[in-house]
Amino acid sequence: MSNANLKVTEVAGLSNNDWQARKEDAVPRGQGNIAPVYVERAAGSELWDVEGRRYIDFGSGIAVCSAGHCHPKITAAVAEQLQKFSHTCVMVTPYDSSVRLAEKLNELVPGPSKKKSIFVTTGAEAIENAVKIARAHTGRRGVIAFNGGFHGRTMLAMGLTGKITPYKNLFGPFPAELYHAPFPIEYHGISVEDSLKGLDNLFKADVAPSDVAAIIVEPVQGEGGFYPAPVGFLQQLRALCDEHGILLVVDEIQTGFARTGKMFCSEYAGIEADLMTMAKGMANGFPIAAVVGKADIMDAPLPGGLGGTYAGSPLGCVASLAMIDVIDEENLVDAANHVGKLFNSRLETLQAKFPSNIGQLRTSHGAMMAMELVKDGDSEQPDAELTKALVGRAYQNGLALLNCGSRGNVIRFLPALNISDTLINEGMDILEKCLQELV
Ligand SMILES: Cc1ncc(COP(=O)(O)O)c(C=O)c1O
Repeated sequence: MSNANLKVTEVAGLSNNDWQARKEDAVPRGQGNIAPVYVERAAGSELWDVEGRRYIDFGSGIAVCSAGHCHPKITAAVAEQLQKFSHTCVMVTPYDSSVRLAEKLNELVPGPSKKKSIFVTTGAEAIENAVKIARAHTGRRGVIAFNGGFHGRTMLAMGLTGKITPYKNLFGPFPAELYHAPFPIEYHGISVEDSLKGLDNLFKADVAPSDVAAIIVEPVQGEGGFYPAPVGFLQQLRALCDEHGILLVVDEIQTGFARTGKMFCSEYAGIEADLMTMAKGMANGFPIAAVVGKADIMDAPLPGGLGGTYAGSPLGCVASLAMIDVIDEENLVDAANHVGKLFNSRLETLQAKFPSNIGQLRTSHGAMMAMELVKDGDSEQPDAELTKALVGRAYQNGLALLNCGSRGNVIRFLPALNISDTLINEGMDILEKCLQELV
């Protein structure tokens, strides 16, 4: 049967490959998918595809469903809201959940300053708004981000992203006044001092610190390869920003909401961000994002300068309020640390078995874990082919896995924080078997 003959309503009995063929015919190649696995339903830390095959989920939709798929409390909150109304537009006739969520986040985000929150829909939009707010507050234009950082796919967020392929290729020119400094990664020979020197060089060669509105940093680089920013580096960035009147924007879009074993990852460094961006794990799968920041800074844009038709959707607001309750009631912060410890012990055993393939494990930050695959145990010989093959084979064996990394050679593990030990061990057994078969 040719694709052209398929009716859009025809769904029963089609295989993953059928759907992949239809997708490739209907959707541009620019939006890829890691595996030709079409999900029919999901619960907790398991997915089932249209062919009835089961997968253990080590990715949570890229760090989104941190309380597990279809968490009953969050599903019930959204279902109840759906019976009342799904949209009125927060900029027209607002609703109490948007105020309650702002109050809650203002309380949760670290630091003594009074905070305010604005809601949008995606992580990239949160980044865009953080830059708008920083520019409005400082009257400056420059923004500094880091090599290997990922901040989203809209024009400004993409400009801030520090990875060319596939995010920036073919899409320039990017907005002006965006700069990049080296990110400290000891494993690749870049020290905190190198990074600070890079910033100093920027100030000497490209932009005066007095023209810089913000420095934006991920406390653990996500897409770039799961490299944690050393605590001392974040503290020195805080001091540098204070010295020059620059705002520190902490991008917690992937690290926030208990993922790293703290409610927000910047708590490890004990720093207060001027502005924090968040999304993903915020509402367990319902699209909402936020900028939370010091109240005087947040109030810089003029009335009407911030917002969006779907900004702070009531469905996202109630989902996020329920998610915050679940983090508290089910102690997901401790759960993230427990998951991290179990993964660490399994990954250490794996590394001992495959020392020339697994160059480095990164398991210091709760349930945001990774292994970097190399050749001959050499950090400068990334093994992107093995990484790709391992991910593909994992799906064939019932394990949903994600890769990342500027060099394409990192496997990242982002399971739900309440995943059971049994499922972790079952998933790790699959991973080990796949690696064994490939090397
Ligand atoms: C750290 C970070 N910032 C920003 C984004 C962009 O978020 P979104 O894809 O919701 O636009 C992401 C997404 O992966 C992210 O990990």
